[in-house]
Amino acid sequence: MPESFFVLSKDYLELAVDEITAIAKMYDRFSKIKVISNLVIVQSKTSWTEITKRATFVKISGQILRKMSGLFLDEEHVGILKNEKTFVCRVVNLSSNQFNIPELESSMGDMISKFSHVKVNFENPDITVYLIFTNGENFFGFSKRVKNQIRPKKVKKHPHELDWKLTRVMINLIGLKKGETVCDPFCGTGTTLLEAESMGIRAIGLDFDEKMCEMAKENLKENGYRSEVLNSEFPGLLKISEKFDGIVTDLPYGVSSKTTEKPQEILKKFFSIIPKRKKVAIMYKKELDINSKLTGLKKYHIYRHKSLTRTILIK
Ligand SMILES: C[S@@+](CC[C@H](N)C(=O)[O-])C[C@H]1O[C@@H](n2cnc3c(N)ncnc32)[C@H](O)[C@@H]1O
Repeated sequence: MPESFFVLSKDYLELAVDEITAIAKMYDRFSKIKVISNLVIVQSKTSWTEITKRATFVKISGQILRKMSGLFLDEEHVGILKNEKTFVCRVVNLSSNQFNIPELESSMGDMISKFSHVKVNFENPDITVYLIFTNGENFFGFSKRVKNQIRPKKVKKHPHELDWKLTRVMINLIGLKKGETVCDPFCGTGTTLLEAESMGIRAIGLDFDEKMCEMAKENLKENGYRSEVLNSEFPGLLKISEKFDGIVTDLPYGVSSKTTEKPQEILKKFFSIIPKRKKVAIMYKKELDINSKLTGLKKYHIYRHKSLTRTILIK
């Protein structure tokens, strides 16, 4: 079974690790995950490129060739360079040992070059060879060029909009697959719809404010996306529940967006109508939290500033 590695940014580490796990298990429920600080090792039928294309917080990723006991390299290691013209060697030091990284990269590069007769290219190598050091195991891996994620354009913005990273991670945490449909019943400028469509997931947005619906539609149009936007209050989702597989949404906070009633009331009513068999990721202001009857929940708390901590709830 192929093993891949993902070095994650430490900004939202718990979310980032759970996102990789969710994406790996989306297509192979027997995937095995090992976490070493911000390094995640995945054993899965899901390829590292598939996981990388969807994940939000990956800094470096690739395939693992083998674990290393020292700095010893043999010809078997460099077999992956056989059909390549150029490579570069990168050291990722997640251990507490101090290394002179440029020196190590350069001497490993020389050694690999001698074995393989492949040239070093720092700017645009065909293949990047990684040596990853942790306090326990060390890994030898590689990556080839992966097409960058398609970032949707956003022409209409609003102060209450949610940043794309938190939106994307919520979609991934509930394991929505390509071709499935997500509903955002408080869609605002359409961030959820944009992120979903950029990953091949269909989307339906609802918002009671006609102006927000227009903004969401313009954002979709700019990208040639086809998600639906309905001018409706959130209970409208009940009428279309057979059309979607999951809900991803960011509820009103009562600061810069218009609301039909107090955010706490909206939250309470919303919780009471969530369809049972749907995957759900909801974000709301932590202090509005209510005791809900929902079961099987995981919560994350995200501190923004002293008057705003957000809760992400996953069902
Ligand atoms: C926090 S904003 C959502 C922001 C959105 N995620 C974005 O990135 O633009 C909440 C949205 O809920 C909408 N809203 C407020 N009350 C609503 C209701 N009763 N039914 C549907 N939408 C409502 C507001 O118009 C606002 O656009």
